[in-house]
Amino acid sequence: MEFSLKHNTPENARGACQVLTVGQARKLSKNGQRVDKACKGVLSSVLKRGDMEGRLGQTLLLPQVPGLAVQRVLLVGCGKDSDMNERNYIRIINAMARALADSGARDAEFYPEDVKLKGRDLPWKIRHAALTLANSDYRFDQLKSGKPERARGLRKLGFNVTRGDAARARQAIEQASAISAGMSLARDLGNLPANVCTPGHIAKTARQLASGEKRLRVNVLDEADMKKLKMGSLLSVSAGSRQPAKLIALEYRGAAAKEQPIALVGKGVTFDTGGISLKPGAAMDEMKFDMCGAASVLGTLKAVNQMQLPINVVGIVPATENMPDGLATKPGDIVTSMSGQTIEILNTDAEGRLILCDALTYAGKFKPRCVIDIATLTGAAIIALGKVPSAVLGNDRGLIDALIKCGHQIEDKIWELPLWDEYQDQLKSNFADMANIGGRDAGTITAACFLSRFTKDYKWAHLDIAGTAWKSGEDKGATGRPVPLLTQYILSQIKP
Ligand code: BES
Ligand code: MN
Ligand code: ZN
Repeated sequence: MEFSLKHNTPENARGACQVLTVGQARKLSKNGQRVDKACKGVLSSVLKRGDMEGRLGQTLLLPQVPGLAVQRVLLVGCGKDSDMNERNYIRIINAMARALADSGARDAEFYPEDVKLKGRDLPWKIRHAALTLANSDYRFDQLKSGKPERARGLRKLGFNVTRGDAARARQAIEQASAISAGMSLARDLGNLPANVCTPGHIAKTARQLASGEKRLRVNVLDEADMKKLKMGSLLSVSAGSRQPAKLIALEYRGAAAKEQPIALVGKGVTFDTGGISLKPGAAMDEMKFDMCGAASVLGTLKAVNQMQLPINVVGIVPATENMPDGLATKPGDIVTSMSGQTIEILNTDAEGRLILCDALTYAGKFKPRCVIDIATLTGAAIIALGKVPSAVLGNDRGLIDALIKCGHQIEDKIWELPLWDEYQDQLKSNFADMANIGGRDAGTITAACFLSRFTKDYKWAHLDIAGTAWKSGEDKGATGRPVPLLTQYILSQIKP
């Protein structure tokens, strides 16, 4: 999908289609009224005849309106002004995309200021229209043998804005394009099956991302390197796997070397069988998505690099499978993490925290200004919050508040759970410094408590994306979340 800016007056639109909004009841937007005048009242007489109320999401395509140069006019209903909100705005964009896909139009022109949305400025409207359209355009058919069906529908959308708004509008388009490119990469990695998307494949993807890019640098540690660094916890998860684990560090340098980087640490379990604490069979295929945290880190770095932002970011990805095997870790085994703390592994299915703790200790080497880890960590996050927000917990009020705000801004929401000391008791072990599970209660919180023991040296937030990283059922597939949130946060941290 391509996006551009247009500055022509509405009555002089050319090209395949012009999109005009209609509010309830049958009220043409200002631009619509001007076009109506130019075509001598065709639009208003169609509306008067009752062909369209202007209900939210309703569409009416008028091919060839006499008096207009544009080939088609698409009327899109916006409902009542008082009902307009962020979700309804996105519904309007989706309705427009569907109607255009059914028409022959390959390009269209849209007037974002036609939709009145309280508290949201022009760049917001452009960013979200572009993101919605680009995301609805996403297909994953690289593993189907047939030729992909020829994509019909919209290829190019022009946003019509005043010349005075051009600079802001252009920046919004650039941000949306970067975020959607990052989301596509994250979705592709997530959707790839685990026999293709191995730890080695993720490392290769990071290398490809950096190749030829001046500001990106990759370093991949193999298991021998991890052993030297005493990452006993990470290595205990890969012990049962024939696929060698990788620890990937992808550095983006867009500011002076002395500027501390934002560190993103993403869980990269390319398949989670549970290990010796084997998972039940139902829907186990979905555990190929257990590397979506890692995918969101690579996707965010792709977006940051595409925008060439003046900031430093480091992405750290521990990548491994979690498999049962003769050499696999067993319940009761005790390992020593890179931090020196010992861990009694009571359940090998709580493997995410075991790879993250060593990656979080490693992240400290980069002297980060803050660390955000992203992980499909606990089924309990879905029980607590469903599939609407990701869960956030951490040790720094300012960081958490900033992330929550960015989540609202970019419609990639998160909700905080308490990381109170009382919960730490659930991790007591009779034989080691801590156990890797904390019982049935508050599973998302005790997982974060475990991580908190490795993040004392820096500002840290943890995102549990178990409910938001992919969809199940008919729409099964990776969502690309939280690439929008992470990118928005990095944008918000750029010095003016
Ligand atoms: N990857 C899973 C978490 C998960 C499960 C995400 C289902 C999305 C859907 C994680 O490694 C895991 O198995 N967690 C266990 C932790 C438990 C053993 C303490 C869980 O949530 O059951
Ligand atoms: Mn698990
Ligand atoms: Zn897992």
